[in-house]
Amino acid sequence: MKLADNKATLSFSNGTPSVDLPVYHGNVGPDVVDIRKLYAQTGMFTYDPGFLSTASCQSAITYIDGDKGELLYRGYPIEQLATNCDFMETCHLLLYGNLPDAAGKADFTKRVTQHTMVNEQMQFFLRGFRRDAHPMAIMTGLVGALSAFYHDSTDINNPEHREISAIRLIAKMPTLVAMAYKYSMGQPYMYPKNNLSYAGNFMHMMFATPCEEYVVNPVIERALDRIFVLHADHEQNASTSTVRLCGSSGTNPFAAIAAGVACLWGPAHGGANEACLNMLEDIQRMGGISKVGEFMNQVKDKNSSVKLMGFGHRVYKNYDPRAKLMQETCKEVLAALGLENDPLFKLAMALEKIALEDDYFVQRKLYPNVDFYSGIVQRAIGIPVSLFTAIFALARTVGWIAQLNEMIGDPEYKIGRPRQLFTGAVKRDVVPIGQR
Ligand code: CMC
Repeated sequence: MKLADNKATLSFSNGTPSVDLPVYHGNVGPDVVDIRKLYAQTGMFTYDPGFLSTASCQSAITYIDGDKGELLYRGYPIEQLATNCDFMETCHLLLYGNLPDAAGKADFTKRVTQHTMVNEQMQFFLRGFRRDAHPMAIMTGLVGALSAFYHDSTDINNPEHREISAIRLIAKMPTLVAMAYKYSMGQPYMYPKNNLSYAGNFMHMMFATPCEEYVVNPVIERALDRIFVLHADHEQNASTSTVRLCGSSGTNPFAAIAAGVACLWGPAHGGANEACLNMLEDIQRMGGISKVGEFMNQVKDKNSSVKLMGFGHRVYKNYDPRAKLMQETCKEVLAALGLENDPLFKLAMALEKIALEDDYFVQRKLYPNVDFYSGIVQRAIGIPVSLFTAIFALARTVGWIAQLNEMIGDPEYKIGRPRQLFTGAVKRDVVPIGQR
């Protein structure tokens, strides 16, 4: 970051002397006012719940221009990455900052592939869960439990540990998600098949059984790979900030990523894909497209808590570029599977059209986000709705790790410790229990 020529001056109406605050430029995007010394200089904090105006770190990984609807990983537009690169190249890009050449890609893929199995004990850990447990409950447990199995990669301050834990996490997430699914189905786990691609191997672990040969459908393989690319990173979103905050205490990488999984689960974040599909199914049950108007009235009613899931974003005030790509993939997958007339897809298109023309959405700049179409693709592929967010977690793992490693390497990083505006009781004396 570069110091700007101008500075910010904060003045007070009560005679407190004003203070000058440095301003920095990033390479693109809004400038930032550096308030780190504000408390020391004035005895005051800033107040910004939800981080509406606060940059929590400097980062060189992902950039979003919310007004333009632009998403760049290490400078490359998401459209180009989704069209020309696969998930392994994207992982390499996010982790190391550059797109690999053919040899670099082969080497990276081999390193990941060598770690796809999980410790055999993991299945006994999994067995402790109810069969109907939510996959995200299982994933939170399994990812955290990795730190109990891989003691040689838990020191966040050791670059070799960080590297091996990164490769392990990327390699093992598909195995863990597929194990959670197989467990819920009461089917035997399928071991990874390392001659398959990252997405192909995941499909095999999910859908194959020991009884029959499983052939990977290349259209679905490509669609899954694209889902992974589109979800790989998204700058300082809630789960990534959780990973950074958790990791800032020096905890091990597996524990920090487990915290990210837990945060992602919420319906305002990664859980929106599951919530969106459930919403579409509910509207379909109520009568489908003919009920869209009624549903929209509920969404716009401030006394109802109904939201149009898969719509709106803190940063995008334009069409989420991932939603556009996801809609394309959705069409391709449905066509390849002969599901062009899928009623939920038609319903989603109708909802989108109405929302984009409705004043409520136009005024608030609410557009479809990545979750609006991803559920329809995943459902067509045969992935159960409750597993959608686990697939998001699988794909986002590389982004979490890249951001965590960037933080550890940042000389300005400190343990994260927000302050507060206290509104509770001030000091008072405990009254003995008999007199309360
Ligand atoms: N349906 C109806 N109204 C909405 C929606 C929606 N999906 N999203 C925002 N609004 C309204 C909101 O009620 C508020 O209205 P008003 O100004 O009258 O109070 C206004 O739009 C601004 O919204 P906000 O809640 O202040 O915005 P935020 O930045 O705090 O929240 C959000 C962003 C994504 C949590 C929110 O848009 C939302 O809940 N969307 C639905 C859930 C969803 O699809 N989440 C996935 C996000 S993308 C995947 C990811 O990276 O996690």
